[in-house]
Amino acid sequence: MRFLTGGESHGPELTGILEGLPAGLALDIDKVNHELARRQAGYGRNTRMQIEQDQIIIRGGFIYGKTTGAPLVLAIRNKDYENWEEKWKDGSLDKLTIPRPGHADLAGMQKYQIDDARIILERASARETAMRVAIGAVCKQLLNLMNVQIFGFVHQIGPVVSKINDGNYLEQYQVSEQNALRCADLDAADQMQAAIDKAKENGDTIGGAITVVAENIPVGLGSHVHWDRKLDGRIGGAMLSIPAMKGVEIGEAFGNVSLPGTQVQDGIQLVDGKVARLQNRAGGIEGGISNGQPIVVKIYMKPISTITLGMPSVDLSTMKADAAIYQRSDTCAVPSAVVVCEAMLAWVLADAVLEKFGGDSIQEVLR
Ligand SMILES: Cc1cc2nc3c(=O)[nH]c(=O)nc-3n(C[C@H](O)[C@H](O)[C@H](O)COP(=O)(O)O)c2cc1C
Repeated sequence: MRFLTGGESHGPELTGILEGLPAGLALDIDKVNHELARRQAGYGRNTRMQIEQDQIIIRGGFIYGKTTGAPLVLAIRNKDYENWEEKWKDGSLDKLTIPRPGHADLAGMQKYQIDDARIILERASARETAMRVAIGAVCKQLLNLMNVQIFGFVHQIGPVVSKINDGNYLEQYQVSEQNALRCADLDAADQMQAAIDKAKENGDTIGGAITVVAENIPVGLGSHVHWDRKLDGRIGGAMLSIPAMKGVEIGEAFGNVSLPGTQVQDGIQLVDGKVARLQNRAGGIEGGISNGQPIVVKIYMKPISTITLGMPSVDLSTMKADAAIYQRSDTCAVPSAVVVCEAMLAWVLADAVLEKFGGDSIQEVLR
């Protein structure tokens, strides 16, 4: 499978094309819209989320409620475009010439030889991730047919770390979905909320870490035989492609560094004549291949780079020092980004599932 997205943050709409889906996959559109709504919720976001009520529109590859095998063509309208349409047309928008450190502004302006950061930030904006969530929601529905479930929740916001690290992921997910911090540790959730409020009060921003888990994964997705087929490498690349994600940990990778090998490797034992594991510090992947244990990934998100206080920067139109531009922005997007991380995990796993069990119709894949 492959997918493309297109569209700007304040353009008319986002477009997505998902190619390689088998024919005959029945899609529940309400479930796709539910995922879009999940991405829009989450503590710490800005007022744009009150303007948009994202709804998926299917423009191709889907007839009588099922995929046809042709590219699935998706669209999400940007309601905010109504407020921008005239300004785009009459050219009344000011040029943005003071780039924000940490954003694509400066490197993008230099690379494309453009003197207006607006043209860069319109596409660099994480608004694009709404379409990834829609594509991920389609992938989740494919995976659900094989009983694969994907859950995500917040692990850390700023200095506040959730105390729940492993165990029953479904239960953690269910608890986390009940609060706006998307955190299963309710004491930590209160502290996280306070940390976001404090950052906002200070005119600052705050990052965090997200856990995503895939359960009921068949053995044998990905392969050890070549670098670009390794499942952990594919998951890592997909996660780092999400705006602001700067670190990816598979299983307990970071903690494993300070432990001896005897405690790190997941011992193999026999249970009722079948091989099983003593623990899952590898996060469900060995040698680039899924080993049947839950796939566990932690993703580290940096603090948002648009900061009310204004970071040191240079006005490129005057070449004088000035505070970086401020565009309406989130204080913390970690709870929302959980849904984007789930979507990208669903995408990688659906792609790997089709590679292994692929067919032209959903009947062939399931067989
Ligand atoms: C769900 C989500 C929401 C985001 N919201 C904002 C935001 O409001 N303001 C901002 O400056 N960055 C936001 N970001 C992050 C930027 O898009 C990102 O930092 C920027 O594109 C530069 O890319 P990089 O951080 O990957 O290098 C958001 C990211 C995600 C995943």
